[in-house]
Amino acid sequence: MQHIQSASVMQTFVLAARREGKRIGAVPTMGYLHDGHASLVRMARAESDIVITTIFVNPLQFAPNEDFTRYPRDFERDWSIAEKAGCDVLFTPSPEEMYPQGFQTNISIGGVSAPFEGVFRPTHFDGVATVVAKLFLLTQPDKAFFGQKDYQQCMVVKKLVRDLAIPLEIVVCPTQRENDGLAMSSRNVYLSAEDRIKSTILWKSLQAAQNLIQQGERHRDRIETILKETLLTMNGLTIDYAAAADADTLEQPTEFAPTQGIVLLLAVRLGATRLIDNLVVR
Ligand code: PAJ
Repeated sequence: MQHIQSASVMQTFVLAARREGKRIGAVPTMGYLHDGHASLVRMARAESDIVITTIFVNPLQFAPNEDFTRYPRDFERDWSIAEKAGCDVLFTPSPEEMYPQGFQTNISIGGVSAPFEGVFRPTHFDGVATVVAKLFLLTQPDKAFFGQKDYQQCMVVKKLVRDLAIPLEIVVCPTQRENDGLAMSSRNVYLSAEDRIKSTILWKSLQAAQNLIQQGERHRDRIETILKETLLTMNGLTIDYAAAADADTLEQPTEFAPTQGIVLLLAVRLGATRLIDNLVVR
């Protein structure tokens, strides 16, 4: 596996590879890799000639009160996980490389950025869209791989690609979970032993709501009530949102049509840790 840190070296590398007709797959990450990230790298491996994993903890997508400075980092471990999953190039630019002095561009995407995460993290998706656009220009992939774990992020990135006609395909990969259902996340290391046990309630509440929908329930308030009631059986947990929305538009009708895909979206806080998860029911 090669290590590239410079933006211009990355771009030169990839332009040469494209001239040779190589299919490039990119997996953008913030590092502290786990099997969720590795599953994206394996998927990219299966569908590309050259797999580039990017690791960049992007300051633009963290608000001042968030965990940017304490975001977990472990380069050695990331290296071995990426290599084992089949990565060819690990691209780890510095903040100065990504945002050189005088950097003034912001990409702001309307509509899908606004609800849910957008309410609680109002500048987050601008930061994501801006860094992802730059990472796409530096790595020029044919396909870029994202996890369904961050459902709204996938919608934002797809919108970015469609609106700006960026010539690549976004591949959304399934959420990888621990044995007890907790969605893998770099932030799970923040959980105390007690909160780690409590965290299984997210998956349980998604499944409870899924069962209800599969029994024919289409009223949004009843679906959301079971999500919330299940979550609140765990004390010490605060709900940012627990919602049901149209899986394609994120709209929230009073009642879903029989054929409408529904996404169940959760964001909760356990102690100082914020966890998100989702499940699509079609
Ligand atoms: P990060 O949280 O490191 O996630 C990188 C990619 O891994 C994202 O596409 C995310 O959805 C995916 N991922 C995380 N946990 C997963 C899981 N349990 N199963 C499957 N995929 C999972 O998301 C970001 O970084 C950043 O916002 C980024 C897109 C890199 C822009 O900075």
